[in-house]
Amino acid sequence: MHKKEKNIVNLENVSKNYKVKLTEDGALNMIKGTFKPKYKSVEAVKNISLKITKGEIVGIVGLNGAGKTTTLKILAGLISPTEGQVEVLGYNPWDKKKEYLRKIGMVAGQRNQLWADLPAMDSFKVQKAIYGISNTEFEKMLESLIELFKVEHLMNIPVRKLSLGEKMKFEVINALLHNPELLLLDEPTIGLDILSQKAMRAFLKEYNEKTNCTTIITSHNMKDIESICKRLVIINKGKITYDGDIKGLRSKYDKKIVFSEVYNNFNIKYGEQRVIDDKTVIYVEEENFTNLMKFITESDNQYYYSVQELDFDDKIEDYITNK
Ligand SMILES: Nc1ncnc2c1ncn2[C@@H]1O[C@H](COP(=O)(O)OP(=O)(O)O)[C@@H](O)[C@H]1O
Ligand SMILES: [Mg+2]
Repeated sequence: MHKKEKNIVNLENVSKNYKVKLTEDGALNMIKGTFKPKYKSVEAVKNISLKITKGEIVGIVGLNGAGKTTTLKILAGLISPTEGQVEVLGYNPWDKKKEYLRKIGMVAGQRNQLWADLPAMDSFKVQKAIYGISNTEFEKMLESLIELFKVEHLMNIPVRKLSLGEKMKFEVINALLHNPELLLLDEPTIGLDILSQKAMRAFLKEYNEKTNCTTIITSHNMKDIESICKRLVIINKGKITYDGDIKGLRSKYDKKIVFSEVYNNFNIKYGEQRVIDDKTVIYVEEENFTNLMKFITESDNQYYYSVQELDFDDKIEDYITNK
């Protein structure tokens, strides 16, 4: 029998506008403003539809201000959508039902849940009380999370004295203690050094594999998404510009030629020229590659360059920016 997969997350045509008070310069305007404030509307998320099934681990990427946090906040019931339907685990998050909040866990990279002056364990105990976690459940969960995140040696240290990476591990543990069915992670590697980022990615992936906990991760770090998620959602200026398998990302270009520096007056006939990390990079289709190479090698100038295959960042570029 064909069984229909149940959506854990179902967003349909969701938009969110923030009302922002306009501040005008000058004392007179300030006085006027207090009586008759002017508002403008910021469209943070525009007509987004998104379905996520049980056990998926989905990465949402986009530039700063693209609408990633807004989307997660809507899912967590922290803000209401201006328009559209939101259903998560069969609930409307904005109803903020206790049973719903019991089923989700959220970590925001820039916001801390743990008490800084106490060891993480104290915050965990509060979590236990809030969520009514039984002693045996608590012990079992804590034990497995401590083992997974390898933090046993850090249990007695006040959170304030931990490194950012260590703190983030505890933040994630804190959000998982009540065994949520949906985990929302907003920029979980922000500010972490490369090694901690790697470790965090590995833990999140392993946790998802072990528990099948549906997970949504936002990031502006492509490496996060590339190594953890199979499915990628790209948001650009509040709109979804890609939703699908990471491997399905296609660029119209096939190769890139990376030069040793920026060549300002580089007059090329083929491909597309960009400047990335203080280097000129030419993106080119397979059919123009030979001609382009001929053009470069027969030029009067001597160029230093290497020919490379496109990587993930290159492929994502067209979807992430509004060209
Ligand atoms: N509370 C708010 N009030 C007004 N504007 C906001 C608020 N939160 C976010 N925005 C605006 O909404 C847009 C999307 O923001 P956000 O969802 O935080 O993006 P991201 O997480 O992708 O960086 C941005 O233009 C941002 O400035
Ligand atoms: Mg954000």
